[in-house]
Amino acid sequence: MRITNVAAVVVSLASTGFAAIAKTVFYQNIQYSLNIPDTTVTSGVGDIYFQLSAPTLYQWVALGQGSSMSGSNIFIMYTSADGTNVTVSPRLGVGNQQPQQDTTAQIAVLEGSGVHNGVMTANVRCSNCDTWQGGSMEFTGSSSSNWIYAYRTGSAINSDDIWANLVQHNHAGSFNWDLSQARGGADVNPFLSSATNTTATSSAPASPGRSSSDSQGSSSAEDATDSSRSQEQQERMQTAHAVCAAVAFVGLFPIGAILIRVASFDGLVWVHVGIQAFALLLFIAAVGLGLSMAVSGNQLNQAHPIIGLVLFALLMIQPVLGWMHHVLYKKYQGRTLWSHAHLTVGRIAIPLGIINGGLGLQLSSADRSAKIAYGVVAGVVGVTYFAAIASGEVKRKRTVDGAAQSEKDHARSDWESSGSTGV
Ligand SMILES: *[C@@H]1O[C@H](CO)[C@@H](O)[C@H](O)[C@H]1NC(C)=O
Repeated sequence: MRITNVAAVVVSLASTGFAAIAKTVFYQNIQYSLNIPDTTVTSGVGDIYFQLSAPTLYQWVALGQGSSMSGSNIFIMYTSADGTNVTVSPRLGVGNQQPQQDTTAQIAVLEGSGVHNGVMTANVRCSNCDTWQGGSMEFTGSSSSNWIYAYRTGSAINSDDIWANLVQHNHAGSFNWDLSQARGGADVNPFLSSATNTTATSSAPASPGRSSSDSQGSSSAEDATDSSRSQEQQERMQTAHAVCAAVAFVGLFPIGAILIRVASFDGLVWVHVGIQAFALLLFIAAVGLGLSMAVSGNQLNQAHPIIGLVLFALLMIQPVLGWMHHVLYKKYQGRTLWSHAHLTVGRIAIPLGIINGGLGLQLSSADRSAKIAYGVVAGVVGVTYFAAIASGEVKRKRTVDGAAQSEKDHARSDWESSGSTGV
């Protein structure tokens, strides 16, 4: 996500030699700061200083140079082994997987780093951030610079190992940093109060999906509460989305479809309609939640939301197809084009929905155990579903063949009383 209105800048008085620090805030509590000392601005190479700061509700937080994960120079912060300090891991972005170890990065974790009052802070000096394998950043000329950020919530990593194995981010995005607001000062750690003039503070923290004015002027205490709420909210939405969609596609839709294939009792069609209608309502709720998350998380280009919307389109016409099938079946005592359309849409939508649930778990970096549990249940349901279709078709063929010499069909008040001949 490109954040253009991020402009929280702690301005310093360059004329007096103080460092200017550009500061960017996400979700109001993940803060990234940057300073490029005068000597580096002049020569284009040398030290730069940056700070990552975030509540410990985050498992890790990362800042990277570059416009996407691929080819970017990434720094990941997590808590140290004893939990009182931080570990900063330099990595190279290699597309959509865990970034590689970067053994060439010259970084130092500086004084002022540590965990205080539930906030972890890394003050970092990088001595070769002007170029890295896969990219470069110009500190002298242009003011525009591309950065990425990412975070994951979860329990503390507590490791001194800079190559700790990390679980994929919950959220990632890109932003542009105006380097003109980060330039100035001596080549020293600017994040210790003595080195920085913070008299002029203009604060316009921005969070994706929220306008900067919403958060302007709020105190840091309010920020913390506010943002943990939005994080919580995000997780609640994710859970509700997953539960609604999973109950629909791994529970109700297949049950409704299997019932009408294999069961046989009066009013079966209305049970089928009731179950599928309720499942459809759940799915519509899931689409609403999912769409809202995909828009705010800039994930509309991902397979999971795209397939979800295709399913939504298919399933919105399914009741119409079903109704036409029902009416014409009664009239002609046999399947019509509508029947085949209704059956085909169902047989595509249910397996596709089950698969899409797996993609959703992938997209949200769900726990391994959740993925395994889903895989097992989805597998059992999928196999049962296809077995029911197959056995239903066999049974139907036999009944249709047998119907020629049997009058028993005529005794039925309604075709739906036999799922095996009806569909
Ligand atoms: C964390 O580590 C850095 C680098 O070794 C050090 O300067 C800093 O004082 C440490 N912070 C704490 C709270 O121990």
